[in-house]
Amino acid sequence: MKALITAGGRATRLRPITHTLNKHLIPLANKPMIFYAIQNISDIGISDIGISVNPGEEEVQKICGDGSKWGVRLTYIEQKGGPLGIAHVVNNARDFLGNEPFIFYLGDNIILSGLQRFVDAFEMNDLNCVLALSRVSDPQRFGVPEIRDGRIIRVDEKPSQPKSEYAVTGIYVYDSSFFEAFGHIHPSARGEYEISDVHTWLIANGYRVGYEEITGWWKDTGKPEDLLHGNDLLLDGLSGQVFENGVRIDAGAIIEGVAVVGQGSHIGSGTILKGPVSIGKNCSMKNAVIGPYVSLSDHVTIDGAQIERSIVMEGTRISIPEEICDSIFGRNVTAHPSESAPPGKRRYLLGDNAVVHL
Ligand code: DAU
Repeated sequence: MKALITAGGRATRLRPITHTLNKHLIPLANKPMIFYAIQNISDIGISDIGISVNPGEEEVQKICGDGSKWGVRLTYIEQKGGPLGIAHVVNNARDFLGNEPFIFYLGDNIILSGLQRFVDAFEMNDLNCVLALSRVSDPQRFGVPEIRDGRIIRVDEKPSQPKSEYAVTGIYVYDSSFFEAFGHIHPSARGEYEISDVHTWLIANGYRVGYEEITGWWKDTGKPEDLLHGNDLLLDGLSGQVFENGVRIDAGAIIEGVAVVGQGSHIGSGTILKGPVSIGKNCSMKNAVIGPYVSLSDHVTIDGAQIERSIVMEGTRISIPEEICDSIFGRNVTAHPSESAPPGKRRYLLGDNAVVHL
């Protein structure tokens, strides 16, 4: 079996971060989100994985490489014509996928449980397609199945009146009947080839579409709050205190709970790390309170700030004497006290689509 992962699309709801960083490379618990998809697929013994990217993409290739990190082979496939919908991603990869069954995995989905049960359900029940469902409080945001007598009878994409409380998550198993279905669907009102239309077509035309409910958590990281929640869930999966080579901990620094600290990082005096936290390589902290639920990428400096439940990306420097929570800092951001603003006033240099909550 092969697998195909999405790493394209527009990610408009995550701007401004996604103006300059592909959504699938946003770090959660200090690893690019797409690494979790690759890991989950390699864990069930699939070694031939396609990654679908927007035309012109280069960073995903640079960061994921040839796959040898996971013992798999990665093939990058540009989505011709750009982000024309998720069903289009699969059809565009037809030459890579061939006629064998395959797993399709939306690279912005994070799940805790493994994938084996979906493949088992596909093989043991002789199905053409398996959908992974998850019970959600806001089905309007997703593909929603209508289920009658234990069978899915149709799937609606982002319905205003959902017919069940389930979301169709971004983990699918198909056989080559997918391509026949694709030949019969048309772009939706938002101009995309919808995966839900493929499912409804398969069911209406007598193909066997089964489902499995996801046990444990599943997260679609569509909005900033979802990124923070995904980060929380992944940090909860860490354990112990792990200090890589060259970590320096000054006298007077306090480390409580689960903490992973990368090579060469310096936890200076007056710092309290409150787990769970994940700190990258060559970070520097002093007189700071960090955590719980904080991820710092490599080369981050925190001086005098208190940060909880936040994601701070590579090269960012924060030295404002404030309590910061539920925040996402992009790469190479500088947040420091002003030398030129009059007392009590603030200065900002904010790019397009920046969000400030004071
Ligand atoms: O997360 C589950 C949901 O994913 C399903 O319930 C929906 O049925 C399905 O349509 C999809 O909805 P989203 O609105 O979340 O899809 P999104 O546009 O966020 O794209 C999902 C992934 O596919 C993401 O990794 C970006 C990528 N993508 C998207 C499009 C439209 C591409 O690579 N190319 C594309 O053309």
